[in-house]
Amino acid sequence: RDGSVIAPLLLGWYDRHARVLPWRVPPGAGVADPYRVWLSEIMLQQTTVAAVRAYFERFTALWPTVDALAAAEDAQVMGEWAGLGYYARARNLLACARAVTAAGGFPTTREGLQALPGIGPYTAAAISAIAYDQPETVVDGNVERVVARLFAVTEPMPGVKPRLRDLAATLTPTQRPGDFAQAMMDLGATICTPRSPACGICPLIDHCAARAQGIAADLPRRAPK
Ligand code: ADE
Repeated sequence: RDGSVIAPLLLGWYDRHARVLPWRVPPGAGVADPYRVWLSEIMLQQTTVAAVRAYFERFTALWPTVDALAAAEDAQVMGEWAGLGYYARARNLLACARAVTAAGGFPTTREGLQALPGIGPYTAAAISAIAYDQPETVVDGNVERVVARLFAVTEPMPGVKPRLRDLAATLTPTQRPGDFAQAMMDLGATICTPRSPACGICPLIDHCAARAQGIAADLPRRAPK
């Protein structure tokens, strides 16, 4: 795969088909507020987009800024979180909001972000790409599947994860990296799906090695138990 052809094709598709989600700005409209990106990424850990939507709307209506969230009562935040599960996330959410407010705003580097409570390598990369337009490679399960198929990587998960990350990095553009990261997520969620990928409408069909070999639906492989 020549990585340089993938990003323009995928961004063109995203311009036409991006999911409209409350934490996003429209394709090509630049960057989103780091508070909204951070809040959405924390909520989306272990929870589906469909479930997160209403919670995100409610949280941002109650607390439109990180300073407002930092000033909230713990019990009210925990109450509003009820139903999202994994309550350690909500406790870290408040600790993080208070650290950010105490520091005068979100850190502007991936390293600074990753030092905050509840922010690991994935979330730090996502915020850097989506809110700061940095060419970070953002790899979640959807992106691993897309990359495994594009490059026809047949080695099993989870051992192949580092290789998939390296391959994903070869695709990351310097132009619109935040849109690119979200386009990869959308492609994985809507077209390059686990069981029956809709290859017929995929913008990357001509560049997909797994499709060419007829093995797209079989990837990524899992080690037999
Ligand atoms: N899953 C995790 N982050 C996401 C985002 N920014 N958009 C859509 N799905 C996501």
